[in-house]
Order: sequence, then C-alpha cells, then structure tokens
Amino acid sequence: SAVDKMGFPYYMAKEIFEQPSCIRRILSNYLLNNEIELGFNGELDKALQSFNRICIVACGTALHAGMMGAQLFKKWCGIPVEIEMASEFIYSDTVLDSDTLFIAVSQSGETIDTLEAMNKAKENGALCLAILNVRGSSISRVADYTLYTDAGPEIAVASTKAYTTQLLIFYLVALKTATVRGKMSEEDVASAIDNLRKVPEAIQTVLGQKDFIHRLAKEVITASDLFMIGRGLDYYVLMEGALKLKEISYIHSEAYASGELKHGPIALISEGTPVIAAVTQTHLIPKSLSNVKEIRARGANVVLLAKNELKGEFSEEYHVIGLPDLEDEYMAFPEIVALQIYCYFVSADKGLDVDKPRNLAKVVTVE
Ligand code: G6P
Repeated sequence: SAVDKMGFPYYMAKEIFEQPSCIRRILSNYLLNNEIELGFNGELDKALQSFNRICIVACGTALHAGMMGAQLFKKWCGIPVEIEMASEFIYSDTVLDSDTLFIAVSQSGETIDTLEAMNKAKENGALCLAILNVRGSSISRVADYTLYTDAGPEIAVASTKAYTTQLLIFYLVALKTATVRGKMSEEDVASAIDNLRKVPEAIQTVLGQKDFIHRLAKEVITASDLFMIGRGLDYYVLMEGALKLKEISYIHSEAYASGELKHGPIALISEGTPVIAAVTQTHLIPKSLSNVKEIRARGANVVLLAKNELKGEFSEEYHVIGLPDLEDEYMAFPEIVALQIYCYFVSADKGLDVDKPRNLAKVVTVE
C-alpha cells in the first residue's frame, strides 16, 4: 500500500514516531529567515490585523488543539476567543459578524459538523480560516484561507501527528497575529521561534523514553478509571490525553482542572485509583502539588509529568515522566507525546486493535 507501517506493529506507533519530522516540515514550510510566513502574499497577515473576536470550532482531537490555540490567542494577542464544539456551534447563538475570525480545525477536512459550522460562519460574514491536513477537502473549499498541517496520511483512528501539527499551526498564527498587531516585541517573537525550533528534538527525546513509559503503562491495564489532572495549559493537553486513553484502551478517563477536584471529582478517588498529574507550568506547581497531595492522601497512584529540571525533587515520592526543559508555553508538545506513547502501550498490552478502536470512525460524515 502507499502507506505502510514501516516496521511498526500499528499505524499509531508509526504516526507517533513521525512527529519530529512532521514538526520540522511545518517549520520549514512556514518560517522564512526566522520570520513567520503564512503565505497568501501577505493578504492573510493583513486580515489578521483587523478582527476583534475569534471563534474556534472543531470536533474531537482537533477541538483540543483549538482549545490550546484559544489560550495562545488570549495570552499573546489579548483577543477574546470562543471555542466551541462544532456539533453544538451549529445551533448556538455565538456572535458572528465581519469582525469575527472563524477558525475551523480538522484533520480530514470532511467532518460534517465542522463543515456546517464553517458554512454558518461564512453566511454570517466571518473571515474563515481552516487548519486542515488533507488537501482539497470539503472544508478547504469553503474557507477563505487554509493553512495545511502537511502531516501526511493519518491512518490510525486515534489522532496523534495531526494534533501536534495543528498545535504548531496555532502557535504560528497566534505569534503572527501578535506581531502584526504590535503586541509582541521583535525579540519576544524571535525567542518564541527559537523555542519552536527546539520542539522536534524535545519530541525525539520523549520517544527515546518509550520503554520507561511502557513500564508505567503496564500498571494500569486492568484499571477501570484513570484521571488526569493539571492546571493552565496542562489541563488542555490532558483533555487530549484522556480522549486518547478512552478511545483506544476503553479505560474510562477524564481530565480535570486540579482546582475543580474538590468540587466533585475527588469523590471518585479511592485506594489505587490511577492518576496522571501534569506539573509543567512553573508558576502553577505549588498549587498543583497541593492537589496531588490531597489525592495521594486518599490512596491515588500518581504518575507525574514534570520537566526534567524538577524530576529530582519529585522522584523520591512519585513515578515521574521527565520531560525536556522547554519554556512553559511549549511543554504541550513533549507532554502530549508522552501521553500518546502511554495510551498506545495500554491499548497494545491489552491486546486491543490499537488502530481500529470499536465504535469509532476516522472521519465522521453524519451528524
Ligand atoms: C473522529 C476521529 C477523531 C477526530 C475527529 C475529528 O471522531 O475519530 O480522531 O479527532 O473525528 O476529525 P477531523 O478530521 O475533523 O479532525
């Protein structure tokens, strides 16, 4: 076939391992002499100057990429952003007008809800930007501008390289928007680009830890529930991690913002409940750790996702997956790859069909 597994037992493994090269491809497509070049002869750059509201819509994994994107636009550009599931957006009363930038995210470009959402945005006069993987897909024909993730065919139902490449496009568009609006100094943009250039190697480093992550994954194959907790950007990455786990391992998993634990979810924690806690956002670590202690006191088995520089501090008390020390804003990349590997091994060790989970389709073309 045109796409084989290149020696990996499942497409999902192959696609996880392709991520460093997918990220490099985007960087070389969209960076020119250390400047972000989105194409369209500067037309899109100009459009990015004038809207005053952003609305991001997608489904599934693409929705999680959109959630991260929303945080970046808020952080770097100070623009109000709404993020909505495509299936709900179609009926919602979200404000849409010619001052709105509407962004649809989709690997396939064919998801019916996302397509209909863009049709609605267009009818209401919004500027429509699509972030897609498959060229020539239906959503690209409606969009005013399409930025491609060019990750190559993604065969496994559970999305991996599509997510990290969608994330990267969001980083580039948010940085470009901040630049054209004078919201970020030249030095800050240069340093952001520097950080993005470190991402492929950071992912490579995580891939190199697959045997260690595999050992941790083995411990949860009989679990019925697994919770993921974190704050700030970690929370959005964990939402994607929890989706991955439920999709391919059939273990019930949810991500919770650590601060919400005491408002309900902590009732679900008992002796032996597995929890993955992410603590990659430096300013939030003290708050997050106090939540981790609370659940530990109730018997949770905790695996921490932390930067390597802090691994030593935690490794006496916890199992720690040490992640490369990127700046906080860029930790999503190594963090999600660690989670992808973890979920992959849980599914494979359970003897499940990793690439074709029950009840799920790669592309959903019915409402
Ligand atoms: C399906 C797939 C998911 C995907 C979602 C959105 O549910 O199983 O992996 O995230 O559709 O697909 P899209 O092609 O629009 O990104």
